[in-house]
Amino acid sequence: MRIGFFDSGIGGLTVLYEALRILPHEDYLYYADSTHVPYGNKPKDLVRRYVGEAAKFLVAKGIQALVVSCNTATSVAINELRNHCQIPIIGMEPAIKPAVKDHRDKRVLVFATEMTLKEEKFQKLVSHVDDQRIIDYLPLQELVMHAENFVFDPEIIIPYLEKKLASYDMSCYGTIVLGCTHFPYYKRTFRKIIPRHIKIIDGNLGTVRHLKRQIEALASRRTGKGMIEFYISGQRADDELFIRYLQQYAEFEKEMPAQSQ
Ligand code: DGL
Repeated sequence: MRIGFFDSGIGGLTVLYEALRILPHEDYLYYADSTHVPYGNKPKDLVRRYVGEAAKFLVAKGIQALVVSCNTATSVAINELRNHCQIPIIGMEPAIKPAVKDHRDKRVLVFATEMTLKEEKFQKLVSHVDDQRIIDYLPLQELVMHAENFVFDPEIIIPYLEKKLASYDMSCYGTIVLGCTHFPYYKRTFRKIIPRHIKIIDGNLGTVRHLKRQIEALASRRTGKGMIEFYISGQRADDELFIRYLQQYAEFEKEMPAQSQ
């Protein structure tokens, strides 16, 4: 099957990584809208337009399912995409449901982009699941461009995170939810400064499991050859850059296996 993956940049590769593990025989088209990254601090109509253009491009390339492997794009454009596309569209949202379910009398802290946290979709989700008022959230928008620039050096990232977290009493928290697909690149760095009792989770594995169920239900399903094509904002891109990220992510995952939900 030809499956499209879309993100504002290289964040969605952390989801594609799980797909390659769980569904290795499908064909993937990965679209990074690197010309317009980051999305999280842009006007929402503009982001909606970018997402629409990317989806149109991928659908014209014959994809049979689309994973919007970007929480920000999902929060502003998923309904419109579902209204316009005839194929299964799998979106992403911060994994707060499992975090609240298993809160162990501690609070939950959600890291995401500015837009995801401000959007109605997230606010509705919170009011739906957070009846005990245990969710706090914090935008870490700058991490997106650090990841885009391949900046993973803890000496640069840790001071940024320490500053952001300075006013939070970490002993209150039991779970941190990574609600942006760029953030799992920093799981190892988060682990260095976040107390050990705090679980760090993301929604990547859950999203791929959902994709698996959706495509297995399709009558027209035929497995592919395990190929990947990469695109940057509508142009075929050099595989090398993306492979470098996937390899780097695989290295991080070896040290910090997923606690995905
Ligand atoms: N990877 C993205 C997400 O999951 C978006 C980051 C951005 O472009 O600001 O939200």
